[in-house]
Amino acid sequence: MADVTGYTAIVTGASKGLGKAITLRLAQGGARVFAAARSQEALQKLANENPDHILPVTCDVTQSDQVQHLIHTAVKQAGKLDILINNAGLGHFGKVQDLTEEEWDQMMDVNLKGVFLACKYAIPHLIRQKGHIVNISSIAGTVTFPKGGGYCASKFGLMALSDVLTQELKQKEVRVTTVCPGSIQTEFFGEAGPKPYYLQPEQVAEAVYTAVAAPKEVIFNQIVMRPQVPPEQQK
Ligand SMILES: NC(=O)c1ccc[n+]([C@@H]2O[C@H](COP(=O)([O-])OP(=O)(O)OC[C@H]3O[C@@H](n4cnc5c(N)ncnc54)[C@H](OP(=O)(O)O)[C@@H]3O)[C@@H](O)[C@H]2O)c1
Repeated sequence: MADVTGYTAIVTGASKGLGKAITLRLAQGGARVFAAARSQEALQKLANENPDHILPVTCDVTQSDQVQHLIHTAVKQAGKLDILINNAGLGHFGKVQDLTEEEWDQMMDVNLKGVFLACKYAIPHLIRQKGHIVNISSIAGTVTFPKGGGYCASKFGLMALSDVLTQELKQKEVRVTTVCPGSIQTEFFGEAGPKPYYLQPEQVAEAVYTAVAAPKEVIFNQIVMRPQVPPEQQK
């Protein structure tokens, strides 16, 4: 079975939810994972689960200097970078007239600019390794819905950025994978909480793992995955 032994990876938004599950899966597969987020304590707790393979780095992906520090730290400590997982993200949901400017800016800054910054500074290192970028988008990057004005705009933007990266990097044999999950059982939904039938973060992490562990000549360009909604709860 393919594994990722010896690979160096960065996962953003690794302190909880999907990013934490991806970090644990890559570490279990043998990668050295630089786990990034703003919550230092949560990252340290995560690193304690697999200290040989998980290294915490505090980083707000909206801040260029912190993103540069993250990439510098990984390359300096590991000597290379093979995999960049752009997972950090958040959603605010409301009709356009009800979304605050702060909510709009936060979604664009984290979901879109954060990915741009990480790619911008990681790409020279990824080219050297013929590496891999995974962008965590969403079903909301493929279809729109009321109250998703800001979130869908940020994730549709991410789809465009991913497509451009695919085209710009294919000559360099850097693979780009965009993952579009439906609802996942994480803290993403705030007080509303997740529904029991939502995807498990580990199920999405397994899809990410399949893409990055695949032989170099196999490209998973896009992975779209949805939970099985019980028939009585389907719209
Ligand atoms: N849950 C879903 O239903 C769902 C569905 C489709 C796609 N997604 C996408 O999946 C990704 C992960 O979401 P999740 O469900 O795991 O949400 P989550 O449980 O709320 O976790 C979000 C993660 O992003 C990090 N983050 C937020 N702002 C950040 C910043 N400025 N800099 C660095 N890290 C930041 C958080 O860490 P800190 O707070 O410690 O910084 C946390 O680790 C997101 O891109 C989301 O859009 C989620």
